[in-house]
Amino acid sequence: MLSKAAVAAIRKRAALAGIGFSWMSMLAFPLAAEDAPKARGGASYELYMQGRHVYEQNCLICHGDRGDGNGEMAKDLPVKPRSFREGFFKFRSTPYDKLPTDNDLRRTITGGLSGTTMGMYKHLGEKDLEATIEYLKSFSRRWRKADNYAAAIEFPAPPAWLADAGARTEHAEKGRVIFSAMCAGCHGPAGDGNGPAAQALKDAWGQSVTPADLRQPHLRCGDGPSDIFRILTTGMSGTPMVSFAGALGVPQRWDVVAYVLSLRPDNLQQPTARNP
Ligand code: HEC
Ligand code: HEC
Repeated sequence: MLSKAAVAAIRKRAALAGIGFSWMSMLAFPLAAEDAPKARGGASYELYMQGRHVYEQNCLICHGDRGDGNGEMAKDLPVKPRSFREGFFKFRSTPYDKLPTDNDLRRTITGGLSGTTMGMYKHLGEKDLEATIEYLKSFSRRWRKADNYAAAIEFPAPPAWLADAGARTEHAEKGRVIFSAMCAGCHGPAGDGNGPAAQALKDAWGQSVTPADLRQPHLRCGDGPSDIFRILTTGMSGTPMVSFAGALGVPQRWDVVAYVLSLRPDNLQQPTARNP
């Protein structure tokens, strides 16, 4: 940590050189060099500090003061709070391994992740949300490399046949064949998450990870056809649930969606997508 005098001197030099010094103020805080998001530009120091405050009030208890997922509450939780330091996010609209968009993070933070302790932070105002998202980005170096960014994928609208029960059954039958070949190894033939490969799976955080029971009342990705299509297209970064965008064409992915919907509780077969 630099002394006040040293920070003042750096600021003065920056000002003389005509450099904006919003991130220079970071030098006054006891963060490791890798934490100072100075290379990203864009966000103001005020926004960063506002985000830090919201994070400390709402998120730190699980995600930890260094964003490593080791908050006070973490050790007793069956699904560990995400460490933000590796920069991998499961729920995105971008290709596998790419960073999420701000909207993706907004959806997770306000919508929560069903079946985990990650709650819905709907009470945060728009500015607090924006600030928290900015603050989350300071935890990982991945946010500082242009290569890790990608635009959101443009997802196709759900096919019209989804509304027709008879047609849906036909497509679900095609989807079942694909499911047996490509998904059952992990998710089990019945979609209950007990496939032969299920036991040995680990995620990028070194924790064992269970294939989702696709029959449970609520999936984390959302319960609508578009939500399931999205996860098949993007995969869940940091987990063995990879993208199937290369292996399966768009019509085949919708067939699989129809099959997954057929496994789900009746009342959830035609819900509105969380993010249509
Ligand atoms: C009670 C514990 C808890 C609190 C408090 C909490 N989270 Fe989480 N959070 C989790 C858990 C558990 C996961 C991991 C879920 C999973 O792996 O599916 C998670 C995952 C996430 C993710 C990663 C989503 C992805 O795509 O991989 C983000 C982003 C996130 N939380 C943001 C926040 C923010 C911002 C706050 C505060 C406003 C917050 N969390 C508060 C438990 C918590
Ligand atoms: C190599 C093993 C593996 C294969 C193959 C696989 N999955 Fe997964 N899948 C997983 C794991 C593990 C998770 C949960 C990841 C987590 O919890 O972080 C998951 C999660 C999911 C989810 C998200 C559930 C939620 O709560 O959001 C859906 C939907 C899904 N898989 C469907 C499929 C379909 C359909 C296929 C075949 C096209 C498939 N998976 C193939 C391992 C696999």
